[in-house]
Amino acid sequence: MKNIKYEPSVAVCPGSFDPVTYGHLDIIARASEVFDRVIVAVLNNTSKNPLFSVQERVDLLKEVTRDMPNVEIDNFDDLLIHYMKEKKAHVIIKGLRAVSDFEYELQMASVNRKLSEEIETFFMMSSSQYSYLSSSVVKQIAMFDGPVGDLVPEAVEKALQSKYSGRRKTSE
Ligand code: PNS
Repeated sequence: MKNIKYEPSVAVCPGSFDPVTYGHLDIIARASEVFDRVIVAVLNNTSKNPLFSVQERVDLLKEVTRDMPNVEIDNFDDLLIHYMKEKKAHVIIKGLRAVSDFEYELQMASVNRKLSEEIETFFMMSSSQYSYLSSSVVKQIAMFDGPVGDLVPEAVEKALQSKYSGRRKTSE
């Protein structure tokens, strides 16, 4: 029995976004065409030792989604289903790049559904040109000063350069 009143067309795109890539943006932009309101929720994950702080990740996301009026950027440090209830949202959007993503995403979607049967996870297939793309791959390339201009927006490229050039300088 559903006893919570949810907003009709709000979707939450959760993730680490460390940093946001063109792969994430593709999913966010396509979701924003389908849902009235899309909340991109950055996980404040202390355990993953992220390169960018939550504030930096939020700021980069705000910058690269500024032409998407129905997309808002937020952060959370709770169970996703608690955050969803707080926002009165019942759709989680996740991107699937390849079969290798499936097992983990199936587990997450099943756990979230077990925790709250009102929450639905919708999967969107990544556009094929981004099927290999991940934040980790981008960070590995940028760490060695490789080209990431086709993988992330310019603001993110600059942020990566300044992070890694700072680190290179301090290790010299
Ligand atoms: O970009 P990522 O790191 O793959 O995103 C993972 C994310 C943030 C979607 C996932 O870790 C998450 O929802 N974390 C919040 C804690 C939670 O609700 N976990 C699911 C139940 S164990």
